[in-house]
Amino acid sequence: MELLLNEVEQLKNEVSLEIVESPSQLEIFRIKYLGAKGKLKKMMELIKTISIQDKPKAGQVLNELKLFLDEVYSAHKNSLEKKEESTLNFDFSLPGIPLNIGAKHPLRIVLEDILNIFTQIGFAIEYGPEIEDDWHNFGAMNLPEHHPARDMQDTFYISQAPDHNNNMLLRTHTSNTQARVLEKTKPPVRVVCPGRVYRNETISARAHCFFHQIEGLYVDKNVSFSDLKHTLYHFVKIYFGEQVKIRFRPSFFPFTEPSAEMDISCFICQEKGCNVCKHTGWVEILGSGMVHPKVLMNFNIDPEEYSGFAFGMGLERIAQLKYQINDLRLYSQNDVRFLRHFAAH
Ligand code: DAH
Repeated sequence: MELLLNEVEQLKNEVSLEIVESPSQLEIFRIKYLGAKGKLKKMMELIKTISIQDKPKAGQVLNELKLFLDEVYSAHKNSLEKKEESTLNFDFSLPGIPLNIGAKHPLRIVLEDILNIFTQIGFAIEYGPEIEDDWHNFGAMNLPEHHPARDMQDTFYISQAPDHNNNMLLRTHTSNTQARVLEKTKPPVRVVCPGRVYRNETISARAHCFFHQIEGLYVDKNVSFSDLKHTLYHFVKIYFGEQVKIRFRPSFFPFTEPSAEMDISCFICQEKGCNVCKHTGWVEILGSGMVHPKVLMNFNIDPEEYSGFAFGMGLERIAQLKYQINDLRLYSQNDVRFLRHFAAH
């Protein structure tokens, strides 16, 4: 009898220490104490060991224990139900908690707008690798090993291989994606290829060790310089405005022949002369040209049968003109005061 009383007391202590904060914990509680194999059942079985004269007393103690357990169970159940009610019962008229919504990065805005214009006229989007081999970044694009143009683009080399074509580097331009596309697709090819590029430059307001470009490539039968001109004119008019003029200046790129740089009339000062156009009325926005026959031949495309045009423009340059952002470093500093300017887009 003594033993039974002790056990009951211990069980009551144990029960009052139980934490029940969720419906699943309540169910665990029920099974543990009140279930068919629960602790109450085990206690009830102890009655067999009690002497005849103590049995009535033991019965009473066990009954009380059952009532106690039922009570604790219902108390837990009630408080859980109340908790649920109170969470449902909130005040709908309270003002909302303002959410800090992120904004698109200006370069993302520029990129999306430009891609939209080109995809609407049938260009597909292609991506090339930022970690590239020498062949796709230089060799295939008609810049052989000792070509002076390689010095113009100070390159981050990653590894050197016995065959220089296998040297690994961070791509210096998105033109590598021209090579990647031509290697796997037969003409007609009509793609725009955005991405990040790297050059070993000291970081300043006007130069950075990484920036972004969009490459364009169109290869088909009978593609001519006037197609290039017309396509870029279309882009400029939609992106910068109907009144903006374009002009081409002869230039040199190893992967195009002839090559040209394209300027647009300065829409900031309406060609009157300002800081952005350095008082010339014109601003340069991209490099372009007709795909060099050697580039086509590198991919077994017959230059007698096919021709193409290509162009490459810097995203930061376009964003600088569009939003008058004058310091290149702002793009990668993650300063929210800068980024918030673009929150409305
Ligand atoms: N890859 C050149 C650069 O990084 C830009 C460029 C010029 C790309 C002319 C072209 C092109 O596709 O035709 O400066």
